[in-house]
Amino acid sequence: VEYRVSPPLDEAAYSALMAAAWGVGPTETDVAARLTRHSLGYICAYRAGGLQGARLIGFVNVAWDGGVHAFLLDTTVHPSERRRGVGRELVRRAVALARERGLAWLHVDCEARHEAFYRRCGFHPTAAGLIRLTEERTED
Ligand SMILES: CC(C)(COP(=O)(O)OP(=O)(O)OC[C@H]1O[C@@H](n2cnc3c(N)ncnc32)[C@H](O)[C@@H]1OP(=O)(O)O)[C@@H](O)C(=O)NCCC(=O)NCCS
Repeated sequence: VEYRVSPPLDEAAYSALMAAAWGVGPTETDVAARLTRHSLGYICAYRAGGLQGARLIGFVNVAWDGGVHAFLLDTTVHPSERRRGVGRELVRRAVALARERGLAWLHVDCEARHEAFYRRCGFHPTAAGLIRLTEERTED
């Protein structure tokens, strides 16, 4: 597995990875433009391939506030590549990237089932909150 920091993003490969991992249909367009504008950096993991070249199998984004805080988003490993340490290596490199750029804090939130994963990646538990802004309205 090869890891690269903020490589040019193949949007079709990105969409295929997200669809396989999150079960969502074709995602947004212009992902590369969004990341260029708003990301401190992102890490891609590639499985070396034969004739077809390297295949995108993992991704994590370090979203940035422009100051000393960043937030880990979209930690993703292809289902067929899980439990081999790719996720942890992606996060390790994301932490290193934030540290190299002089940031002071890296945040993450997750579902309870991924708590142990992030704990092993070095994150300390903290109280936090989350509001879903897109919830469907059932009544007026
Ligand atoms: C969460 C996710 C990124 C983890 O990726 P991964 O590559 O499987 O992660 P790792 O292999 O580094 O670690 C996963 C587990 O496998 C275990 N593991 C690592 N290498 C292993 C090996 N060689 N053999 C067996 N188990 C191993 C780790 O101990 C870890 O266990 P833990 O979760 O109890 O800490 C992946 O499951 C995923 O993409 N999920 C769907 C998307 C998602 O929900 N992302 C989280 C967003 S907050």
